[in-house]
Amino acid sequence: MTAGSKRQDILDWTNASWERLPASVDLRKRAGEMAQKLAGEITAGKLPFLSTPFMAALEKDLAGLESGFLAGFEHMLLLGIGGSALGARALQKAFASGQDLPGHTGKSLWIMDNVDAAVLEAHLDRLPADKTLVYVVSKSGDTIETIGQYFLVKDWLKKALPGAWKDHLLLNTDEQKGYLRQEAETFGIRTLPVPDNLGGRYSAISAVGLVPAAFLGMDWRALVKGFQAVAAPLTDPKLDAASLAAHPAFEFAVWGKALMDEGFCELITFFYIPAWSSFADWFAQLWAESLGKDGMGSQPLPAVGATDQHSVNQMFLDGPRNKACLFVERAGGPEGLPFPADMPPIFDYLQGKRFGVLLPAEALGTRMALTQSQVPLVALRLGADDAQAAGKMMALLGAATLLTGWLMGINPVDQPAVELGKRLAKARLGADGLAEEKAALAAFVTGGRDERGF
Ligand code: PA5
Repeated sequence: MTAGSKRQDILDWTNASWERLPASVDLRKRAGEMAQKLAGEITAGKLPFLSTPFMAALEKDLAGLESGFLAGFEHMLLLGIGGSALGARALQKAFASGQDLPGHTGKSLWIMDNVDAAVLEAHLDRLPADKTLVYVVSKSGDTIETIGQYFLVKDWLKKALPGAWKDHLLLNTDEQKGYLRQEAETFGIRTLPVPDNLGGRYSAISAVGLVPAAFLGMDWRALVKGFQAVAAPLTDPKLDAASLAAHPAFEFAVWGKALMDEGFCELITFFYIPAWSSFADWFAQLWAESLGKDGMGSQPLPAVGATDQHSVNQMFLDGPRNKACLFVERAGGPEGLPFPADMPPIFDYLQGKRFGVLLPAEALGTRMALTQSQVPLVALRLGADDAQAAGKMMALLGAATLLTGWLMGINPVDQPAVELGKRLAKARLGADGLAEEKAALAAFVTGGRDERGF
């Protein structure tokens, strides 16, 4: 971008393959119906992720936390899983990548989104409790993976800091319900609310993701600004068929649903901004948990260039013809070091160039190869890979996911199928009740097996 020029963030539909997606014609006609549904849900307070009614208060809280409470810690240990962790990780990797580089000296964020006993122990052995803030994120306040870790971490804090353990905890949970809320009330622990109807995977642009962002010194205000810029037309009371039809989130939703109708049941997200690869994981959860319903949906396939050109790309290019691709790239990018003059003649084409030329050339090559392999592809091309662009992308993909779900006729904000596994795990651990699950488990583990050594 040249000085003074206006940045441009672009969705390039050139290779979207609309001609192979006939359902898109009728889907586009549903813009009026979708606009009405959006307006109704927003008025009913059901889509706070888009309308962000909590933001003014949160921005005030964040500004205070940033200059006060958070500044007192060197480490943040985030306990959370799924939507309570993936947004924070994407932001960390994109905008505070120092922790993954040699010589890191700044603040560190440790995200514990699993129940790996050895990893938890290693963190508790090595983190200095007196410099660590434990940020526990759980909308429900009851998620076993998070609460199981919380019990052990709280115990660790109590032992290390008997008089001050509560001051090293910040809980982000439902305003009224759940175990974490009870904990906060019983012990007077500092909390931030997860607003009603703000589901995990739609909550990155709330305290869930913004507190870690503020802790790491990210430009969270620009992130919010970018998010709200894309969300604003969708929450405008004057939204109608024409304005929704003109919004890129609706166009993406039409594309997403029309792809499913033609059997494109896998959606690659190929990020050619390496530091943004965790956004592909964030999106994978958003898309999969929202849309995998009633035998429908499309499987997200997160990928990062150029690394995955030497991994899964062969399958993308020449495997089953059931894939579409969201290709994410940026204009410009770092120039990198100059190549040295003493390279062998077969690499002459690199003479006089800098390392930064490789990524855009590889991106172009892969994008064209995918297109030639008949993979319907939409390119999201960002003018800069900054926080504002990330906010815009997150709003676009969040809204697009929601609208795709509505076009499919499913509920994109629940996740009923994953509940069974959770109930069975609890039954296995001997939780009260769950008689049916316990009986089913007993039959499952004692039933006939076909097990062979290898
Ligand atoms: O997107 C979702 O709703 C889920 O992935 C949740 O974020 C995840 O299950 C964790 O739930 P909770 O925040 O209640 O602990």
